[in-house]
Amino acid sequence: MTVTAELPKNGAREASQATEFVPPYPFRHEKMPPVWTLIGLAKRNFLAIWGIDDFQSRLRSKKIFNRELVICNRPDVVREAFQTNHEVLQRKTPQMRHALEPLLGDGLFISDTETWAKRRKVVAPIIHGSRVKGFAPIMIDTIEEKRAEWAALGDGAEIDALADMAHLTAEIICRTIFGRNLGKNHAAEVVQGFTDYQRHIDQIDLLSLFGLPEWLPRFRGRAIKKPVQRIMTVLDQIIESYQAQKEQGEASVIGGLLEARDENGAPLSRNAIISEAAVIFMAGHETTANTLAWAWFLLSNCTKSRLKLQQELDTVLNGRTPTFKDVADLPFTKAVIEETLRLYPPVPILGREAMADTTIGNKPIPKGSLVMVVPWLMHRNPVLWSKPDVFDPGRFLDPKSKKPNKYGYVPFSIGPRICAGLQFGMTEAILSLAILAQQFELKLKEGVDVQPVARLTLRPGENLPMTLHPRRS
Ligand code: HEM
Repeated sequence: MTVTAELPKNGAREASQATEFVPPYPFRHEKMPPVWTLIGLAKRNFLAIWGIDDFQSRLRSKKIFNRELVICNRPDVVREAFQTNHEVLQRKTPQMRHALEPLLGDGLFISDTETWAKRRKVVAPIIHGSRVKGFAPIMIDTIEEKRAEWAALGDGAEIDALADMAHLTAEIICRTIFGRNLGKNHAAEVVQGFTDYQRHIDQIDLLSLFGLPEWLPRFRGRAIKKPVQRIMTVLDQIIESYQAQKEQGEASVIGGLLEARDENGAPLSRNAIISEAAVIFMAGHETTANTLAWAWFLLSNCTKSRLKLQQELDTVLNGRTPTFKDVADLPFTKAVIEETLRLYPPVPILGREAMADTTIGNKPIPKGSLVMVVPWLMHRNPVLWSKPDVFDPGRFLDPKSKKPNKYGYVPFSIGPRICAGLQFGMTEAILSLAILAQQFELKLKEGVDVQPVARLTLRPGENLPMTLHPRRS
């Protein structure tokens, strides 16, 4: 739930009157406000800064103080930026690097050049698609525990669907990757840590926008230290306990990090291991948690899709718990997740800094420019999607539907820096929705106003109060 009284909004109002469900989105400017107003809006919510024209554009650029800001919003220019020009455009923006550095150090998500290439080789195989089948039984056990926990709460119980999904995905990542139970207390610690972190970071690095050098110290509120400490303490314990487990002959996937050696036979430093563990934890739990929370919200407002989902689950599974093999036979469940990722991409802005002069669509891009692919805009670009603001999972199934190519739908990014956990995340989301929606319906608590807010990730605010109802089929 969000308190966004000062932010203009229009999506939710339209939604309540329409026959098709149009979920909420922030106000879109007809005439752009001055740059300082935009910066103020962006500090609170990155989704509130866009004008109607931004959604339809192909390639736009604006000068903000001393930086050229370029937005790629069609498949051809996205391909050029993230695939063809990867070498020059692989560096994350100073905003992203400075926002995440206190937590992730030089971890994969924000590193580039040699460090990135070296770490990607170590981290990607740990979470690769080929391992997901082996992880699935642990995912399923963990989701079944959540199902039992919900069943014990009884009809009409109120839950915070956002926190519940975050606990679930944090527990899954911990059990699959780090080989141990996170436990209720630790899961809550980590989830709260990430929530607090997002609340306190300053994403608008004005010093960089003014073109001031990297080495100049950035002001970071003291408030940021506490959540970082909270998360680091849990990660430290996880790594310690891995080492103890190994002595008892019980290896886990995190062993890949601890046992990795570079070309010269040197292990990763303790700091590098902690950074990569933080990356896997952050990238691996919050994105999937937000996707699931949004899926519950969307389904609670769209009876047609909810019934279609239940029908698929009942027909294909006939009351039994799904296994990994069933995932391929649940196309509508998958389409609900895909449509959720289109409307509310958990990483709504993919930003890069040009490391040298280059071009995109014949437009010169000077060194230091910020180049953005904004899934929030491109996934709602009316040139690429019909009725772009409507929740309609069927668009991913209907062969006649207009579907853009892989550079036009990028919830997992695209090119060499594509999400290393794509298969993991999709399988986890499909299994979670299938197992829980088999038995429960969630309803949005009455009177709650849900608005999407993006700081690091796109969330339905800081919580999502819903009530839990066992299905009576
Ligand atoms: C629905 C779920 C997920 C979504 C939407 C998602 C999205 C993304 C996106 C957009 C990026 C790239 C950001 C950029 O280009 O700036 C990314 C990177 C990454 N993701 Fe995911 N992710 C998800 C789940 C996961 C999971 C479950 C894991 C781990 C188990 C994971 C691990 C990573 C890693 C390690 C990177 C960094 C890759 C690199 O920089 O080379 N993600 N993710």
